[in-house]
Amino acid sequence: MNHFLDINSLTIDDARHLIARALQFKQNGTYPCYDHYTVAHLFYENSTRTRVSFEMAAQRLRMPVVNLDVAHSSEQKGEVLTDTVATLVAMGVSIIVIRHSQEGIVSLLANRFQHQNTVHFVNAGDGQRAHPSQAMLDMMTILEHKADVSPLKIALLGDIRHSRVAHSWQYLAARFNVGELVMIAPKPWQPVNTYYGFVTDSLEDGLKEADVIITLRVQRERLLAEEELDMSFYKQHYTLTEERLSYAKKDAIIMHPGPMNRGIDIDSVVADGPQSVILQQVSNGLFMRMAILEAVLQ
Ligand code: CP
Repeated sequence: MNHFLDINSLTIDDARHLIARALQFKQNGTYPCYDHYTVAHLFYENSTRTRVSFEMAAQRLRMPVVNLDVAHSSEQKGEVLTDTVATLVAMGVSIIVIRHSQEGIVSLLANRFQHQNTVHFVNAGDGQRAHPSQAMLDMMTILEHKADVSPLKIALLGDIRHSRVAHSWQYLAARFNVGELVMIAPKPWQPVNTYYGFVTDSLEDGLKEADVIITLRVQRERLLAEEELDMSFYKQHYTLTEERLSYAKKDAIIMHPGPMNRGIDIDSVVADGPQSVILQQVSNGLFMRMAILEAVLQ
């Protein structure tokens, strides 16, 4: 795997290898040394989990890390992103991890620099399109609880339309042949295109007998005027409460990619309750990102 761009570019073997390797890292506690490869992080959108876990992943693999402060980089003086990347490549950076609001930008860069086969691009989230490392760490977490995903009902709940995690999840569910993927959202937040699974605005129908519930953040910063919803309506019908959790199977696990809006996406009693694996997702993020950094070098 030369780059890590989106779930679509992964074969099922690639995906299974990443999960197996991440689990190995998690269990072993001893890691290979890649100290001759430098990683640069270019985060043009806010991040806590993804940014810190990619940085810690690189540190565990003993890769030197450069965190470009994009607010103070030469792009503020008019330099274009391709020149910033060319500059980093000329300095010998081996892996560039990018989060950006422009959809498809990481794939465009990988294509633009394909003649430089010494640099590898990793997508840390592009606009509303893809967040493949999040989807992969989610799948790793599910497989720690459920042996096989083919009989499972997995429910995505919340602002599906603007969620790059939900988009990546549709492709991942198809790759892994997930039994049933249901996307639960009020009409203005339903996906424009559905690649896999089905959509409902009924929380009760969607959660019925679910094995896994992935709650998603209401992405207020991405809403168009016609997509605005009254939050009291949303809370009344969609917030994952303890009572609504009872529609799902008794052993259902509860997930959220973060950051969470407590009381809107999910009630605290559920987020912090015994069925929640939200912090396990965060921990697994580190190991999944180690596996991704290693895989692009192979
Ligand atoms: N899940 C996720 O991408 O979180 P951050 O925005 O904090 O990185």
